[in-house]
Amino acid sequence: MTALRCMTAGESHGPALTAIVEGFPAGVALDTALIDYELKRRQGGYGRGKRQTLETDRVIVESGTYHGVTTGAPIALRLVNNDAKLERLLEPTAPRGGHVDLAGSINYQTGIRQVLERASARETAIRVAAGALCKTLLRELNIHVYGYVRSLGGIDAPPLSSDLSVRDASPVYTLNPAVDSAIVAAIDSAKEAGDTLGGVVETIVLNCPIGLGSHAQWDRKLDARIALAVMSVQAIKGVEIGLGFEAARRPGSHVMDPIDFDPAHSSEDRRFGFRRPSNNAGGIEGGTSNGEPIVVRAAKKPISTLAARTRSVNMETKAPQPASYERSDVCAVPAASVIVENVVAFEIAAAVVEKYVGTSLAAIKAAMAAIHELDRKLLDDRGDRGS
Ligand SMILES: Cc1cc2nc3c(=O)[nH]c(=O)nc-3n(C[C@H](O)[C@H](O)[C@H](O)COP(=O)(O)O)c2cc1C
Repeated sequence: MTALRCMTAGESHGPALTAIVEGFPAGVALDTALIDYELKRRQGGYGRGKRQTLETDRVIVESGTYHGVTTGAPIALRLVNNDAKLERLLEPTAPRGGHVDLAGSINYQTGIRQVLERASARETAIRVAAGALCKTLLRELNIHVYGYVRSLGGIDAPPLSSDLSVRDASPVYTLNPAVDSAIVAAIDSAKEAGDTLGGVVETIVLNCPIGLGSHAQWDRKLDARIALAVMSVQAIKGVEIGLGFEAARRPGSHVMDPIDFDPAHSSEDRRFGFRRPSNNAGGIEGGTSNGEPIVVRAAKKPISTLAARTRSVNMETKAPQPASYERSDVCAVPAASVIVENVVAFEIAAAVVEKYVGTSLAAIKAAMAAIHELDRKLLDDRGDRGS
């Protein structure tokens, strides 16, 4: 069990979504504007369906703060569903492939409605709120997390910069304006054909200290924890750190990152002067952050609910019937980039709270500075012994 935890509750068309964030340190000034900004971004991106025009997600902080500053008590976050009509919705008659409809209703011995309402990606809104809350902590520690769309519908969008105003001006949240219109056109064509599109989203974490996570036990590994959290996001079907699957295709000499040392920087930065000319490992080696940017990629499958309805069967008669159609997005890859970014932010914050054990921001900052100083001294001592 990690020191910082989050549980969510709520159905897609229930009254509200709730998250309880437990273990969040005291002394962090709440930035609800940042949380609402991330929520708004999650609702946007070209290709979303009508639901997003019905909801105006704004976080309500119900506990764990005093005069806008966290107290260390559990923080309850809530988002009201404007489109709360759960009890009025009909039971779908034919389960949709690519959804929990069939397996879940057998698993829980309920109708399809009960499982699809909870399985819906509406739940990601409250996870974004929890992740954005964690960004306020990370910002205090000068750790920054951002995400963007890396490819969509097979169209590659390699980032041309890290200027987030470029991403925020992009209808599909890329850092490559040159390909945006081609992506928008691809989404339009898919929509016309009653089809949907998936893509790859990328998250970068900057200025992580060396030593988040651990090599010592499988469930302490930072890459494993990130992978679990990202894979749990609805419709994510693959997670890569650094080169990821590409590493399996290359010889070792084109995968391993060399280690250099620049004495000019040995005392001033979080990497003690160690420099990696490449970052194929994506900032994590042996389950431990190595001070380089953490690079996480996630593959999001296309939306399963197709307007050109897929084949299914009637749950009562077992006769062939097109899958039930629920109002749906054509493409939610831009939204997924926001979700993955915030889910990663949560895991980084959890690793920070675990390493720099502290009940308050001040304690965490002090522990961080003290451990950094100790690490630097031990490195210097090794240097003295070696000379
Ligand atoms: C932001 C976002 C929005 C989504 N919107 C829809 C949607 O409108 N229609 C749909 O069928 N699936 C949508 N999905 C995907 C489903 O929630 C997901 O495929 C389903 O719950 C089954 O889970 P799985 O794909 O992880 O196995 C969305 C996913 C995300 C991340």
